[in-house]
Amino acid sequence: MSIKLGDTAPNFQAESSLGHIDFYNYLGDSWGILFSHPADYTPVCTTELGFTSKLKSEFESRGTKVIALSVDGVEDHQNWIKDINETQNTEVQFPIIADKDRKVSELYDFIHPNASTTLTVRSLLIIDPDKKVRLIITYPASTGRNFNEIIRVLDSLQLVDSHKIATPVNWKNGDDVIVPPTVSTEEARKIFPKGVTEIKSYLRYTPQPNT
Ligand code: BEZ
Repeated sequence: MSIKLGDTAPNFQAESSLGHIDFYNYLGDSWGILFSHPADYTPVCTTELGFTSKLKSEFESRGTKVIALSVDGVEDHQNWIKDINETQNTEVQFPIIADKDRKVSELYDFIHPNASTTLTVRSLLIIDPDKKVRLIITYPASTGRNFNEIIRVLDSLQLVDSHKIATPVNWKNGDDVIVPPTVSTEEARKIFPKGVTEIKSYLRYTPQPNT
């Protein structure tokens, strides 16, 4: 199945390092991050999961739950977590799905046969509280992802959902934001009391509304 932006993220049940999981129950009303990695006991994956674990409070403050996945088994996950904790100086508390039968990987298209017939690629989805897919990225096994960028995208998505704005290149929380083409300059001046700067009729900025 090929999942696209705006699709409803499908539910599933799976075993994990923290026991049996129903995905929707796990997410509840939170935002969610579901991400696959190629294999346990591999160096790049070890750094990715360690860093994600260290971002725990950042995800919590954004109402976001994290869940990882590979096609390794529960016992491997649990033993590897001990290594991650030791080598990355952290305590992994989010679950890692043990997708030995590849049920979830196939549901979410995490195996790209021309990259590897057996291992999952580095895919990541952001799922909103309505279970809609809001971000999909896929990296090759040899390139670790930038999880600070995932936090930045979460900030952008959550801001876009509460204000009629978009965020420009390299935007970070607190920077000026974009007035989107769907909002006229006249309306923008009413809804953005901090002011609107018009560079071109289609290129307009306003200070971030919620700061
Ligand atoms: C790694 O996580 O280090 C890795 C996994 C699979 C292929 C290459 C690197």
